Amino acid sequence: MIDKISSIEKEVKEKIANAKTSVSIEEIRVEFLGKKGKIIDILKNLKSVEETKRKEVATLANKLRVDIENKIEDKKEEIKEKEYENKINNAKKIDLTLPTNLNIGSLHPITIVQKELEEIFESMGFTVEDGNEVETEYNNFEAVNVPKHHPARDMQDTFWLENGQLLKTQTSAAQNKIMKKYGAPLKAIFPGRCFRNEELDASHENTFFQMEGMMIDKDVSIANLIYFMKTLLSEIFKKEVEVRLRPGYFPFVEPGFELDIKCIYCDGKGCKVCKHGGWIELCPCGMIHPNVLKMGGIDPEKYSGFAFGLGLSRLAMMKYGINDLRILNSGDLRALKQMYIK
Ligand code: DAH
Repeated sequence: MIDKISSIEKEVKEKIANAKTSVSIEEIRVEFLGKKGKIIDILKNLKSVEETKRKEVATLANKLRVDIENKIEDKKEEIKEKEYENKINNAKKIDLTLPTNLNIGSLHPITIVQKELEEIFESMGFTVEDGNEVETEYNNFEAVNVPKHHPARDMQDTFWLENGQLLKTQTSAAQNKIMKKYGAPLKAIFPGRCFRNEELDASHENTFFQMEGMMIDKDVSIANLIYFMKTLLSEIFKKEVEVRLRPGYFPFVEPGFELDIKCIYCDGKGCKVCKHGGWIELCPCGMIHPNVLKMGGIDPEKYSGFAFGLGLSRLAMMKYGINDLRILNSGDLRALKQMYIK
């Protein structure tokens, strides 16, 4: 029996050494260590071994069983690693690097103009605030002195929601909340997307961007308004601009103005951009109406302020020579590619 064990040992070791696949190693395990395996068989039939040799045979067979179990485990690991390596070596190669001709795009012209403006205003001590796109009727109209049935509502065709709220038609909609949040004195700008139910053409969109600003303090005057706007616009256009004010009507300011700049393309001589008038209408503004201050919780006897509503889309068009407002929202790559700003 002892000879049999050593011949099994020799046989199984040879087989393990030659095994190349997980399947063959499993077959070896079954052949020797399975329920009817050759080593297990010896252990099962110890009774038939001469009593004097039984202990020795049992010890040898058990030792062999443990030894083979370990060898099989080691071999399994080895084969698994080899199989994995083979799989990787034979796998179809995938190139994970990015192609060099990939078009990574750039910021949108409106975003660029917005960021530029934010930086300029921040350097002048203004904070940048956020506004909602869905607003209450109160914030969008009533709080800026446009009560129900006021004719000024007709100028802003509004997208009403079923719950009585609306898509904000102007960034002025955030004025009330910002006044309530900070009180006076206050210097803030609030850029945002506005919506109006407009027929689309080259200068009308149902979705456009504005940037509103407010400065409230003791003794703020029209002179401050002119100074800020002139400084700001000169920074944006990177040259000294000349501004003028014309009367304009907006219910939330009194007096209200249209601020024009002398055409930066023809220096006031008259060209296509300024429609040969020499001036470009750029920014409605005015001194904040006492009612608006009151509704914002600010005492108009103590404080005054100016407000303005810059058309961001308009400014981006001017800065990048875009002649159709619809291009800005189109996502048309052919147009956007021409505006890529490196
Ligand atoms: N909210 C106005 C509009 O969208 C623009 C505006 C005009 C804003 C005068 C102002 C302002 O703050 O003072 O037509």
